[in-house]
Amino acid sequence: MAFKVLISDPLSEDGIQPLRAASNIEVDVQTDLSADELADKIGEYDALLVRSQTKVTRDIISQAKNLKIIGRAGVGVDNIDLSAATEYGIIVVNAPDGNTNSAAEHTVAMLMSLARKIPQAFVALKDGKWDRKTHVGVELKGKTLGVIGMGRIGAEVAHRAKGNRMNVIAYDPFLTKERADKLGVDFGSVEDVIVAADFITVHTPLIKETKHLINKEAFAKMKDGVRIVNCARGGIIDEDALYEAIKSGKVAGAALDVFESEPATDHRLLELKEVIATPHLGASTVEAQENVAIDVSHDVVRYLTEGVARNP
Ligand code: NAD
Ligand code: MLT
Repeated sequence: MAFKVLISDPLSEDGIQPLRAASNIEVDVQTDLSADELADKIGEYDALLVRSQTKVTRDIISQAKNLKIIGRAGVGVDNIDLSAATEYGIIVVNAPDGNTNSAAEHTVAMLMSLARKIPQAFVALKDGKWDRKTHVGVELKGKTLGVIGMGRIGAEVAHRAKGNRMNVIAYDPFLTKERADKLGVDFGSVEDVIVAADFITVHTPLIKETKHLINKEAFAKMKDGVRIVNCARGGIIDEDALYEAIKSGKVAGAALDVFESEPATDHRLLELKEVIATPHLGASTVEAQENVAIDVSHDVVRYLTEGVARNP
C-alpha cells in the first residue's frame, strides 16, 4: 500500500523529487485549500508538507487520523500547533539550514535599502519625480549594528555587516565569548545592544520570550534616529510601539519582511514613508526553496519508509 503525501503550499518542483521518486509514495499537490477543506481531506494522508501559508491548527491535526509526519519547508514552525502534533503522536520536521543564506542576503538588502531610501526614491522616480533632496541616506560604515538572535541567520548577517565595515554588537542567550570572538562581534544583554545600536536587526524565533521583545520600553532606550530591520517574524517587534516610535521621530526608519498578521496588505505601518517592506520574501529564492524542499522531502521519505527522521 502506498503512503499518501499532501503538499498544501507551493514548494519547489525540483525540491520534491525525492518524494516523487519513491515507489511507495503518492504525492498530491493542492495549494488552494481552505482550512475547512484541509480539515476534511487530511484524514487520507500519511504526511503533510507546508511552507508558512498553511496554518496547521489543532482542529486540522485532530482530524488527521493517518498523519505520521508534518514537514515544514523552512525554519519557523510557528504555523504548526506543536503541542497538538505531539499529543496526536505526529512528528514535525523543519529545514533549518536551507534558507539561511537567502534570508541573510535579504536582510542585508533591506538594511542597505533602508539606509539609502532606495525603495522610496524608486517609487518617486516611477512617479516622474527627480527628487534628490528627500532621499538623502546614511552610510553603514562606522555604524553599529545590533543583532538580536545570533543563530544561523544572525551570524551570517553579522559577517556581512562587518564586510560593510560596521561594528556589530549581539545578544543571544546562547552566545559565548569564544563564539563572539570567533565571529568578531561584541556581545552583551538585550539592553546593551539596543542602547548601542544605530541599526537593530532581529533574528530570533517567535516564542513566548521573544513576543514583543522590541516594545515601547525598548524603543525608549534606543538612540534617537535608530533604524530597525525585521526579516525574522512579525510579533518580535510590537507593531503599535514601532508605529508610535516612527511617528515621534525616535525611529528614523524600519525595514520589514514580516508582520504579526500575514498577508499584511492593509497595514498602517505601510502608510509611513519611513517604512520599507517586502511580503515575507526572505527565503524566496530558487536556491533556498529547492534546498528546503529537498531537506524535508528526504526526511518524509526516510520517516515513512524507515521510521527514522533527521531532526525531530
Ligand atoms: P536559529 O535557530 O539558527 O537562530 C535563532 C537564534 O535565536 C538562536 O541562536 C537562539 O539562541 C536565539 N534566541 C532564542 N531566544 C532568544 C531570545 N529571547 N533573545 C535573543 N535570541 C534568542 O534560526 P535562524 O535560521 O537563524 O532563523 C531566525 C528567524 O528567522 C526565525 O524566526 C525564522 O523563522 C526566521 N526566518 C525568516 C525568513 C523569512 O523568510 N523572512 C527566512 C528564514 C528564517
Ligand atoms: C522560515 O521560517 O523559513 C521562513 O518563514 C521562510 C518561508 O518559508 O517563507
